[in-house]
Amino acid sequence: MGILGKSYGFEITTILLLFMVNTAHSIGANWGTQASHPLHPSIIVKLLRDNGIQKVKLFDAEARVLNSFSGSGIEVMVGIPNEMLYSIANSVEAAERWVERNVSAHVSSNNVDIRYVAVGNEPFLSTYNGTFISTTFPAIRNIQAALIKAGLANRVKVTCPLNADVYQSSTEQPSTGDFRPDIRDLMIEIVNFLSLNGAPFTVNIYPFISLYNDANFPVDFAFFDGYSSPINDQGRIYTNVFDANYDTLVWALQKSGNGNLTIIVGEMGWPTDGDRNANVALAQRFNQGPGPVDAYLFGLIDEDEKSVQPGNFERHWGIFYFDGTPKYNLSLGSNSRGLVPASNVHHLPNRWCVMSSSASTEDPQVALSVSYACDRADCTSLGYGTSCSNLDARGNISYAFNSYYQEYNQLETACQFPNLSVITTTDPSIGSCRFNVMIQPANSRSGGYLLEPVKMVQMLVILWTLL
Ligand SMILES: *[C@@H]1O[C@H](CO)[C@@H](O)[C@H](O)[C@H]1NC(C)=O
Ligand SMILES: *[C@@H]1O[C@H](CO)[C@@H](O)[C@H](O)[C@H]1NC(C)=O
Ligand SMILES: *[C@@H]1O[C@H](CO)[C@@H](O)[C@H](O)[C@H]1NC(C)=O
Ligand SMILES: *[C@@H]1O[C@H](CO)[C@@H](O)[C@H](O)[C@H]1NC(C)=O
Ligand SMILES: *[C@@H]1O[C@H](CO)[C@@H](O)[C@H](O)[C@H]1NC(C)=O
Ligand SMILES: *[C@@H]1O[C@H](CO)[C@@H](O)[C@H](O)[C@H]1NC(C)=O
Repeated sequence: MGILGKSYGFEITTILLLFMVNTAHSIGANWGTQASHPLHPSIIVKLLRDNGIQKVKLFDAEARVLNSFSGSGIEVMVGIPNEMLYSIANSVEAAERWVERNVSAHVSSNNVDIRYVAVGNEPFLSTYNGTFISTTFPAIRNIQAALIKAGLANRVKVTCPLNADVYQSSTEQPSTGDFRPDIRDLMIEIVNFLSLNGAPFTVNIYPFISLYNDANFPVDFAFFDGYSSPINDQGRIYTNVFDANYDTLVWALQKSGNGNLTIIVGEMGWPTDGDRNANVALAQRFNQGPGPVDAYLFGLIDEDEKSVQPGNFERHWGIFYFDGTPKYNLSLGSNSRGLVPASNVHHLPNRWCVMSSSASTEDPQVALSVSYACDRADCTSLGYGTSCSNLDARGNISYAFNSYYQEYNQLETACQFPNLSVITTTDPSIGSCRFNVMIQPANSRSGGYLLEPVKMVQMLVILWTLL
């Protein structure tokens, strides 16, 4: 595999398209909500506005989220999760109901500026083993038909966010770009359909993943500030993998006869934790790099309940921490003063759960307690190359305990690891390692995590006896 990578391989006119077509250069952000303590949608909408973010991409179409965009002037892309593709592909009525409930209702009576419906999310990702191959295009067609029937087709466009792994280059030259052989015919049908309906192609491009997957990937080629061994494709010089990847798509589209299809960058970004290449400095370097781009950043805010199957970095894509605090200075569009934090965020008191000074790291309950805590909370900031890799063994244990304690809203019973833990009012954060204080849980989410966190001591004793 070359440095472009087979799956993250790359236009000609595209760089031009990317930087020139959208003279407004409006910046968008992906807002995912897989978080234990999500900020209230009204706080998020204000955060977007305060930061000059004019477009938002959602992964579903929750009414309470959409309602908060009413009258905000923010353009919205709503999403249909992959799990719904089957029913929408197989029923015109299901597609009509989806559009009626999740688009028409908000556009007409609620003044939400919905511009796109994203059908599926990276449904052709290689790791899905073809699960959504047969349902994606029929679902796109049914949603388009439903938009036409609802009289919205001129205003709301259908699209399908695809990972850059749907195309590749046979050499490192973008000009050799074409769609992945196993889905090439299907991709051409979809692209023709989008073109026919004046709809855009949406692609997610991740130089971070190129670096994550390939230890030999040249780090500087992932960024926009120059690389000493650029790719020369028949005289066109590529100094970063993003542009090369993007142009590979443009070539693939041109070869299918759709060279003038509009391309939206649905996701681009860099995580700040959970991997040796995921940190605040590199994320700032990447996100500040491309200049005024017409794209949706991934993502707006950290999500502590995302699956870590792709890697521990998965919970750290935000330009803001979970509580809406900016991670680094980023100038978005005309806003050159850096990011504005979320307002009206209420934290729990300054209390942390840590390992008690009298406990021993040799205590046989320690390992069990730590894995119990980490299974139920978020320990992805621990480990090699992460923000908390500077901790010693006691620090590690404390981090796990605190993560659990905060997850359960500082309930006293959530800091009763048997003879091991104690509550402190002294912030144990050290260097880059942040011991979080959770935000107050929203009333609207009085679900599981407000309940008592099992009877932890008993649970641990039981587990211990089983071992
Ligand atoms: C509207 O979207 C929500 C959130 O994705 C989904 O749960 C619901 O089923 C959709 N409504 C219809 C009628 O399909
Ligand atoms: C895809 O196949 C691999 C190997 O057979 C398997 O490990 C993985 O769980 C499958 N993924 C899905 C989403 O079915
Ligand atoms: C794109 O190209 C097709 C075929 O060449 C043409 O019919 C169509 O009008 C073009 N669309 C745009 C937006 O230029
Ligand atoms: C952003 O920059 C300002 C001044 O240059 C500095 O005071 C502030 O701490 C920085 N913020 C972050 C999140 O780095
Ligand atoms: C802290 O925990 C991490 C992840 O669990 C581990 O890789 C590291 O070795 C631990 N450090 C110490 C000093 O125990
Ligand atoms: C905690 O320590 C006390 C005294 O050292 C001991 O009696 C007790 O069994 C310990 N509790 C647990 C759950 O290990």
